[in-house]
Amino acid sequence: MSALKAGVSTILCGVAFLLSTGPGNATESTVEGDLHIDAKSFRCITKMTPVRQFYVDNLRGNLDATLAAANSTMGAVYPPGSVIQLVPGEAMVKRGTGFNTTTHDWEFFELDVSKDGTHIRKRGFADVVNRFGGNCFGCHIAARPEWDLVCEADHGCAPIPITRAMIGALQRTDPRCDSPTISPQDAEALKQLNQLLKAPQ
Ligand code: HEC
Repeated sequence: MSALKAGVSTILCGVAFLLSTGPGNATESTVEGDLHIDAKSFRCITKMTPVRQFYVDNLRGNLDATLAAANSTMGAVYPPGSVIQLVPGEAMVKRGTGFNTTTHDWEFFELDVSKDGTHIRKRGFADVVNRFGGNCFGCHIAARPEWDLVCEADHGCAPIPITRAMIGALQRTDPRCDSPTISPQDAEALKQLNQLLKAPQ
């Protein structure tokens, strides 16, 4: 290869590198006031604050603002630092304003939880696919605009096949919480969930 060609390919590699770490993929930001988020940003789901069927936190100490958005009957934009979880294994975190315009600044997480704590299996923006092959953003963007990508049962997203009983059972048996106990009803709901997950898709 000539020196010129070698030089050109070095430049192209550099460009590819810049593109692959550019907005949309990077998880650390230059947005002012944005937070570093790692496994320690997540905790026992039932220690978070309950709102209807899900739980919220605010990593910037702005829990009141997150609760105001979650409890608004007309919908609202969630403030930066908001964490929302329906089940222990999935989370949405609101990054700094302008961090990712496609996802309205939401970062999606798939988490592995055990009694030893939280491990981030996957994180990102429009590209995160959950363990059942569903793209988080693909579903959540269908929520009507006033709901800021939060689906709940009636905001316009395609439904998930998991019942309220299964969701409650997953929340109450989060292995990161202090000695979670398992009721017969929750054990039955988790059994049904396992059968659902094993069924051919
Ligand atoms: C098949 C579509 C679909 C996919 C894929 C999906 N979700 Fe959801 N998600 C929903 C629906 C619908 C709800 C509301 C369920 C309910 O309350 O009954 C929901 C609820 C949630 C909630 C609670 C707040 C809310 O929007 O109601 C969070 C947080 C969440 N999902 C995160 C994720 C993450 C993270 C991923 C990817 C790892 C993901 N979801 C993948 C459809 C989906």
